[in-house]
Amino acid sequence: MATSHQFPAGSDAFPHNHLLGIAGLQPWEILFLLKEAEQWVDLNRKSSKHANRLDGLTVINAFFENSTRTLLSFEIAGKRMGADVVNMHAAQSSIKKGETLIDTAVTLNAMKADAIVIRHGSSGAVQLIADKVDCPVLNAGDGRHEHPTQALLDALTIQRRKGDISGLTITICGDVMHSRVARSNIYCLTTLGAKVRVCAPAPLLPVALDRMSVEVFTDFDRALAGSDVVMMLRLQSERMNGDFIPSPREYHHLYGLTKERLQLADADALVMHPGPMNRGVEIDSDVADDVDRSTITEQVEMGVAVRMACLDILTRRSRGVEGWA
Ligand code: NCD
Repeated sequence: MATSHQFPAGSDAFPHNHLLGIAGLQPWEILFLLKEAEQWVDLNRKSSKHANRLDGLTVINAFFENSTRTLLSFEIAGKRMGADVVNMHAAQSSIKKGETLIDTAVTLNAMKADAIVIRHGSSGAVQLIADKVDCPVLNAGDGRHEHPTQALLDALTIQRRKGDISGLTITICGDVMHSRVARSNIYCLTTLGAKVRVCAPAPLLPVALDRMSVEVFTDFDRALAGSDVVMMLRLQSERMNGDFIPSPREYHHLYGLTKERLQLADADALVMHPGPMNRGVEIDSDVADDVDRSTITEQVEMGVAVRMACLDILTRRSRGVEGWA
């Protein structure tokens, strides 16, 4: 469990209307969200998983990009808390008829949603929608920008396994350039005091890393030495413009997490992956499926709890919860 922390009371513990990113959040704001998620981990392990906190509220999940884990877990999170959850799939929406993002936002707003969860292929699109609607907006991934609930669920997973995140050495390896997961995790883990290492072939390392408090590696073996956590990322070819690697086989040879390579990390190092995985490319099956080391299914479990916490906290103001009005 994490070390105890003195949180400000009421809305001061999380003084934001939306969750658009991790950048700019204070350490205690992140720790507050993680602490609140714990109760939902407990509820989700019971046979009856209902809470009535969001009774009568409408949550709209507007996903303009494919998703399995994030969409389903936001849907389950809303439903377990009693909200009416509606999923808007872009492929079947009027976006296909040429409607602008702003007109879509105004339409969702007119339907009196109490929270809108958005995934969009363009960095910044979620901010644009947040500016146009009256209810809280939660970013479920915008382009290469941020994926805040993924970073929170990763932090909750690490905290429950390793205790305090501060002081841990955490290596993030893979297609950092195209990864909103990497960016949100770098913000989250460095804010919580971890030493973050980032490793990728040079063409997949964004220049912006210079402005972040991370150590940059192109040699995966060197990055692994002394790591407490190894977080692997998928090659996001759908965002690549041109070729960034010679071949998946060569990539696996240099940057794939194999059982042998994992031995270079700390003896108890955790293996993480946000999914979806490309087995045999960035990670081998015997590592991904190693129940002692891999937290991949636990990350999915924590995802539901974290999203329940975020929906609860962001709707407290509109629900008139004492201290949040
Ligand atoms: C990630 C995403 O969509 O950014 N997946 C996820 O949300 N679990 C990572 C990825 O697509 O590789």
